[in-house]
Amino acid sequence: MIDKTMTSLTIRRPDDWHLHLRDGAMLQAVLPETARHFGRAIIMPNLVPPVVTARQASDYRDRIMAALPGDMDFTPLMTLYLTEDTDPLDVANAHANGVATAVKLYPAGATTNSASGVTNFDRVRPVLETMAEIGMPLCVHGEVTDPDIDIFDREAVFIDKVLKPLRKKVPDLKVVMEHVTTQHAVDYVRDHRKNLAATITTHHLIINRNHILAGGIKPHYYCLPVAKREAHRIALVQAAISGDKRFFLGTDSAPHTDPAKLQSCGCAGIFTAPNTMSCLAEVFEAAGKLTKLEAFTSLNGPQFYGLPPNEATITLQKGDPVTYPGSIETADGPVTVFDPGFDLHWRVTENP
Ligand code: NCD
Ligand code: ZN
Repeated sequence: MIDKTMTSLTIRRPDDWHLHLRDGAMLQAVLPETARHFGRAIIMPNLVPPVVTARQASDYRDRIMAALPGDMDFTPLMTLYLTEDTDPLDVANAHANGVATAVKLYPAGATTNSASGVTNFDRVRPVLETMAEIGMPLCVHGEVTDPDIDIFDREAVFIDKVLKPLRKKVPDLKVVMEHVTTQHAVDYVRDHRKNLAATITTHHLIINRNHILAGGIKPHYYCLPVAKREAHRIALVQAAISGDKRFFLGTDSAPHTDPAKLQSCGCAGIFTAPNTMSCLAEVFEAAGKLTKLEAFTSLNGPQFYGLPPNEATITLQKGDPVTYPGSIETADGPVTVFDPGFDLHWRVTENP
């Protein structure tokens, strides 16, 4: 509901359908930044070692709940990291017991901590067939890792070379293409009515590759998949603001300490948890589509995952620019917060 002056917007509490919380001191520091505004999040399993089994997912969930401040209400939805040794029965049990909501597919070597990912897709077919039977979604990091493929083309090539054949072999599998970055991916999702959806990050709605590379290299804008040219960013905004149920928010908020990012071989990942909702309100307002924000952040995701939307609401209020800290402190060093490059006017308040 938007009031007449368009300065206040109340929506269902949002969820984040792709989030990195890490572990230990980092988990402790970053978890409140998400739990403050979000009801639930799909938790990425790329720890070292990765979260592969139901037992590991359940232990990790316990550590997340132990790190959650007592006054915060937040539900982590766990994922299992798919390897060529994953046991279909363990996956089915984890789903039946509510321990795991989805399985995550990383092509081997695609991104941070993905060494245990999949090389031979035929070897994971029994797991994928089991998931199709029980209706458990597969979250896909959609980039090929072939060093001969240009990094800006890796998503498009993945769709043609991996995703299309995989979906043909297991057509009943529910697939989420995560953090899509190209017009190609948006079109592919739009062309398929069933069992396919995509998450879009906050930062890919805001930055293009010039932001990373023009006028000096900006490590804090480097993530995977890497941001593409402006035409692709516009395609992502169009998808996000469309209200189309197949597109929803997955921030891919991926904290790394400044020393880990600011070095000769810096880590991929952008930390957007603190200011995501303010950033998104700004993007949707600029597009004249604030009325579609709730679908993107709070309704489409639960619908795809077969979950009810959150009962609680948040209110976004427009006013003088809101300031977020430039970084948050962790025991391992500071983590820089995403700088959208424009003022944020929408502040978030939780409703009782
Ligand atoms: C993620 C991370 O740091 O774990 N990094 C990133 O750039 N998005 C991994 C990932 O989701 O690709
Ligand atoms: Zn991620």
